[in-house]
Amino acid sequence: MANGEVWTVADWERCRTVSGCADVMIGRGAVSDPFLALRIRGLMDRTPSDEEWPVVLAQLTDYLRKLQVRVAVRHEHGRVKMWPSYLKRTWPQGC
Ligand SMILES: Cc1cc2nc3c(=O)[nH]c(=O)nc-3n(C[C@H](O)[C@H](O)[C@H](O)COP(=O)(O)O)c2cc1C
Repeated sequence: MANGEVWTVADWERCRTVSGCADVMIGRGAVSDPFLALRIRGLMDRTPSDEEWPVVLAQLTDYLRKLQVRVAVRHEHGRVKMWPSYLKRTWPQGC
C-alpha cells in the first residue's frame, strides 16, 4: 500500500507506477476533493469542474445541519474547520 501527496487522478497513476503498489491510500486528497475516488474509478470526470462546487457546498451544509443535532454548538466548528482550506485547493472560488 502506497500513500502520500495523492491529490489528483494523475498523482494516483504516478504513485502506482513509481511504487509498484496496486493499492493507494488517500488522506488529504479525499478531503480536498471528495469525488477523487469516483474520478479514479472513472465514474466522474477526471478533472474537477466549477459546476461541482454547488454539490460539494450542499453536502457540507447538510453535514453541518446533522452536526447541529449531534454535537454541542461549541464543538461544531472544530469538526469542519480544516475543510475550507483543503476544499480551496480544488475549488478556489468556493471558500
Ligand atoms: C482526515 C484524515 C484523517 C487521518 N487519520 C489518520 C489516522 O487515524 N491514523 C493515521 O495513522 N493517519 C491518519 N491520517 C494520515 C493519513 O493516513 C496519511 O498518512 C497522510 O495524510 C499522508 O497522506 P496524504 O498525502 O494522502 O494526506 C489522516 C489523514 C487525514 C487527511
